[in-house]
Amino acid sequence: MSLRREATEPDHDGGRSPSARARQAQGSWARDAVIYEVYVRSFADGDGDGDGDLLGLVSRLEYLADLGVDALWLTPFYRSPMADGGYDVADYRAVDPLFGTLEDFDKLVAAAHERGLRVVIDVVPNHCSSEHAWFRAAVAAGPGSPERARFHFRPGRGETGELPPNDWWSVFGGPAWTRLADGEWYLHLFAPEQPDLNWTHPDVAAEFADVLRFWLDRGVDGLRVDVAHGLIKTFGAPDPVEGGVTDFGGAETPFFDQDGVHRIYRDWRSILDEYAPERVAVAEAWVPLDRLARYVRPDELHQAFNFEFLRTPWSAPEYRQTIDASLRAMAGVGAPTTWVMSNHDVIRHASRLAAGVGGEPGGVGSSDDATARADRALGLRRARAAALLLLALPGSAYLYQGEELGLPEVFDLPPEARQDPIFARTGGALAGRDGCRVPLPWSGSDPPYGFGTGSSWLPQPPEWAELSVDAQRERPDSTWALYRRALRLRRDLGALGDGELRWHSEPDSAVLVFERPGAPGVVCAVNLGSEAAAIIDGSLVMDGSLVIASDPLTPDGLLPPDVAAWFTR
Ligand code: NOJ
Repeated sequence: MSLRREATEPDHDGGRSPSARARQAQGSWARDAVIYEVYVRSFADGDGDGDGDLLGLVSRLEYLADLGVDALWLTPFYRSPMADGGYDVADYRAVDPLFGTLEDFDKLVAAAHERGLRVVIDVVPNHCSSEHAWFRAAVAAGPGSPERARFHFRPGRGETGELPPNDWWSVFGGPAWTRLADGEWYLHLFAPEQPDLNWTHPDVAAEFADVLRFWLDRGVDGLRVDVAHGLIKTFGAPDPVEGGVTDFGGAETPFFDQDGVHRIYRDWRSILDEYAPERVAVAEAWVPLDRLARYVRPDELHQAFNFEFLRTPWSAPEYRQTIDASLRAMAGVGAPTTWVMSNHDVIRHASRLAAGVGGEPGGVGSSDDATARADRALGLRRARAAALLLLALPGSAYLYQGEELGLPEVFDLPPEARQDPIFARTGGALAGRDGCRVPLPWSGSDPPYGFGTGSSWLPQPPEWAELSVDAQRERPDSTWALYRRALRLRRDLGALGDGELRWHSEPDSAVLVFERPGAPGVVCAVNLGSEAAAIIDGSLVMDGSLVIASDPLTPDGLLPPDVAAWFTR
C-alpha cells in the first residue's frame, strides 16, 4: 500500500483514454485503501456553533494522517434543510453555511492532499430536497407540467384520488407518497422532504453528469453513491410484501436493484475515467452479495460497501462464511472486497457486538433492550478484535469516525434531542440513528470535549471524557493506540491489503485462523469462542512472532475469548 502525493488539479484526457485502461489493469488505489468516514456534522466544529464543519475537519487532518488512514469519505455538506442530516440536497454545487463555504472545501482538499489523504465525497442521486429549485418549480407548475416529469408525480387511487398511487412504503416509515394540495402525489422512498428524482428523464442524467464533473474538477478523488440501488423504479409491478419494505434491502422490491441502474453507472464510469489521477466510486447498495457484485463489474463502479458483517452474529463459522462469500462474490468480477463494521446508519459495533446479534440500517435494534443493556466491556473487547480482523482481510476497509476510540452507541439520548426522521416517522418506535452520530470527544473533562468551543448538536455522555483522543493518547493499551499501530503495520507488512487469504482453521472452529501469504506472511487469529485457545495448528510457529494483539494473550500464550492477534511467519 503506498501513499502518493498527487496533483490536486485533474488532467482531462478526454474520454476513456489508454492511460485510464492501463490504470484499471494495474489495480486501483482503492483496492486496499483504508477509508475513514467523516460524519462532518459530528467530527469537529471550527466555528463554535455546535455543528461540525469543513474547517473543523481541516484543523484535525493531522490527526487522521497520523492515525494512518488512506482516504476520507465525507458525508454530505451541500446546501440542505437537514431533514435527513444533509441527505436532502437543495443545491448540489453549494456548501451549506452550516458546514462552511466552497473555499473551505477547496482548502480541505488541498490540505488533505498535502498530507497524502484522498478525499471521497457523497453523491445523492436518488432524491433531492423538497427545497431544490427543480422540486419547487414542479410544485408551482402543477399537474401535467414538464417540471413535474423530473420527479415521480402520479394521481391517487380511490374515488377522489385520496389513496396513494400504490402501496410502496418509505424506508423511514409511513407511505412512500405524499399528496400536494392540487391532489397529485409524489414519490419519496425516504422522508417526504426527499422527493425521488426520475432517472428516466434526460435532464436528470445530464444534471448529475455535470455535478460529478463540478466536484471532480475541484480535485475529489472519489464518490460515494448514496442509495445506488434505488435510482430506477418499475411502476405497475405487483406491490412488494405487505406493509412494504422496512429496511433498505430486505425484500425484493420494484424500486430497488432494478437492472436499469447499471446503465447509469457505466455512464458514470466513463466520466470518472476521463480524469487523472484516478477517481473512484463506491456504491451504497443494500443488496445480496451476488447482486452487489454487479455494481462493480469492470465498466461500472470501483467498490461497493459490503454490509455483511453488520448482519453477521458473533460466531466464527458465521464470520467465516461471510468472509468466504464476500471474497467469492467480488472475485467473480475482479473487484476488491470492502469490509464495514460501522457507519452513520447503524448501531456502533462496540455496542452491537456485545449483544452478539446482527444490526440493520435505520438504527433498528437501537431501542431493543438486549442491545441497550449489553455489556460495554465485552462489546469493546469484541470491537477491538474485529478491528484486527477487518484490517487483516484482503481488500479495502471502511472505518467510521470514533470507532478508533471504541465509542459505544449512545442509547439514552433525550427524545427532544433526536433529529433522525426515523424516530419521528415511526412515532419513536425506532430510536433511529442519532446514537451513532454523537459528536466526537477530543479532549478535556467536560462536554463538548474539544469538539468545538460551543456546545454540541447532540449531547455527549459524561463518561466520554475518558474516551477522548487526548485521554487515549496517554494510554498505550487504548483503542486509539491499537488502531494506530494496526494501521501502521498494515502499511508496513506487504502481505496485508490486497491479495490472497488461506484458511488454517477448520470451518467449524471457534477460532478463525487465516494467513495472508507474503514475505513475511501474516497470520491473523480471532477467538470468537468462549475458551482460551491455542493458535498453533502444527504448521504455525508463533513464538516471538506476535506483532499485535487486541488484548493480552494468556501467560502461556493462549488466545483468550474475543481477542485477535497477528503473527508474522
Ligand atoms: C443512505 C445514507 O447513508 C443515509 O444516512 C440516508 O438517510 C439515506 N441513504 C437516504 O439518503
